[in-house]
Amino acid sequence: MCGIVGYVGPQQAEGVVVEGLRRMEYRGYDSAGIALVHDGAIAARKRAGKLANLEKALAEDPLPRACTGIGHTRWATHGAPTDRNAHPHLGAGHRVAVVHNGIIENFAALRAGLERDGHELESETDTEVAAHLLESAVQSGATLTEAMQQVCRRLEGAFTLVALDCHDPDRVVAARRSSPLVVGVGDGETFLASDVSAFIAHTRDALELGQDQVVTISRDAVEVSDFDGRPARADSYRAYHVDWDLSAAEKGGYDWFMRKEIHEQPAAITDSMLGRHDAEGALQLDELRITEGELRAVDKIILVGCGTANYASMVAKYAIEHWTRIPCEVELAHEFRYRDPILTRDTLVVAISQSGETADTLMAIRHARQQRSKVLAICNTNGSTIPRESDAVIYTHAGPEIGVASTKGFMTQLVACYLLGLYLAQVRGTKYGDEIAQIVRELDRMPAHVQRLLDAADEVNALAEELSGTRSVLFLGRHTGFPIALEGALKLKELAYIHAEGFAAGELKHGPIALVEDRLPVFCVVPPRGRDQLHDKMVSGIQEVRARGARTIVLAEEGDDEVTRYADDLIRLPVVPTLLQPMVAVVPLQLFACELASRKGHDVDQPRNLAKSVTVE
Ligand code: G6P
Repeated sequence: MCGIVGYVGPQQAEGVVVEGLRRMEYRGYDSAGIALVHDGAIAARKRAGKLANLEKALAEDPLPRACTGIGHTRWATHGAPTDRNAHPHLGAGHRVAVVHNGIIENFAALRAGLERDGHELESETDTEVAAHLLESAVQSGATLTEAMQQVCRRLEGAFTLVALDCHDPDRVVAARRSSPLVVGVGDGETFLASDVSAFIAHTRDALELGQDQVVTISRDAVEVSDFDGRPARADSYRAYHVDWDLSAAEKGGYDWFMRKEIHEQPAAITDSMLGRHDAEGALQLDELRITEGELRAVDKIILVGCGTANYASMVAKYAIEHWTRIPCEVELAHEFRYRDPILTRDTLVVAISQSGETADTLMAIRHARQQRSKVLAICNTNGSTIPRESDAVIYTHAGPEIGVASTKGFMTQLVACYLLGLYLAQVRGTKYGDEIAQIVRELDRMPAHVQRLLDAADEVNALAEELSGTRSVLFLGRHTGFPIALEGALKLKELAYIHAEGFAAGELKHGPIALVEDRLPVFCVVPPRGRDQLHDKMVSGIQEVRARGARTIVLAEEGDDEVTRYADDLIRLPVVPTLLQPMVAVVPLQLFACELASRKGHDVDQPRNLAKSVTVE
């Protein structure tokens, strides 16, 4: 949510900043803006709407050459997405320019104070308050770094701020609290961004800032301090080398990042399994910083996350409870903290987040740790806030996910959840080694299974084309198929903007069946035949909706002929164990949503009103 970029170096800053914003646009695309220092003054442009609007304005009326610049792409919180509310915001005398990600919670009081002192603020944003405060501080003689430290001490909430002072043209100063900020260290040039993809074309050497830190960058120096002005301890921030390159963040010939990411899933599964088991199938999760003794003492697991990550949690509950017999609760992260959950030292909280920056999930884990519970993060973004504040982390190695709707992120969250469940079963002895090895072998086969489904994408695409005029779609599933029904519906809602609902098939008769009308498309995720009761009950559910006129689109494993006669459309799934079926069943649903949204002419990578990384509660 909101992408920010800063640059100091020999290149034309406008180009570097706009290129960085293009890669940050998944974080928000309500408006975009840029500010440069030229000839002792600030030159700025900002426009409502997508980055393309700003680029058009820059093409028509270029900014002057500059070596220092900042930029912003916004997901609106305070104030509508208008030109005026777009960032950067300037101080009263236009000496300081600021971009901001997050929410300044005490902005109303600060704004009232400024207005009492005669400041006139132009926008409805919380950010402009910071611009005025910073500018007042530099006007009183502080350096921009000192001004940032002073101002941050007065701010409440979560924020990343990046600022310029036109009297100090060779530096950019930034600060972070509970909101992401990384520094890119190049050769004679330095970058700031919400994540490394903004500057990966220029450098892969990054520095991830700690909580409540201020950073001052120049061409060849990076200075980090705390909000009180003390130099930061070297172990309070972290230098690292990014192990993926620009091509991983490009579309690679696909029309959408989402479609590319769907097709990357076989590789993402392989990478996420890599090094996590030995040749005999015994799990080895070396990065887990929770001891085996602590894991043996766990008496309850609570899985928290939002959106798609929440559905991964639901799948995890089925698997982990079955393999370990540890009771698991699944909780939306934003509901968790406020209901006063029962947490003890023996509760393991598993926080699932692709971005590692979702504020709701972050607040949930902070609450859990305050209550002395152990927190384990399942996360795709190296060095992001959630894993950094957790006791342990299992990284999903999906590579950068740019499309707002999560696909390979979800897939690898499932892998990580299965690995965690199996590891707990191994440590606690609730499964024999050969049983674990057998499931691990099944997981190792998943990339091939998923690839087969992707090779048959044309069939799903044809179905999407045929159904592109539909106004409503239902999804039914039982057991692990239930969260997949929810995920299929979510994908369609967020991308195609049509009414889509997922239901537990057993719940149908208790209400939702009233929604079924003639030719309503109903996706039915049929469990593998291994659990006959489950399978047969699902088949009954399909018959029930079909009898009421629904068009049934049945996802069933190869060889399951019983369902054929109840299927208006049949999508074959590879034969896999019930608990692992989500990894294959979700693929056609992802393809369907991507294609249907494309057919409707929507921007699949940047659906309306959404942001990939929601860094406000
Ligand atoms: C946003 C995105 C969703 C995502 C959710 C959780 O709402 O639009 O696609 O599932 O955040 O994101 P996370 O990064 O925590 O997995």
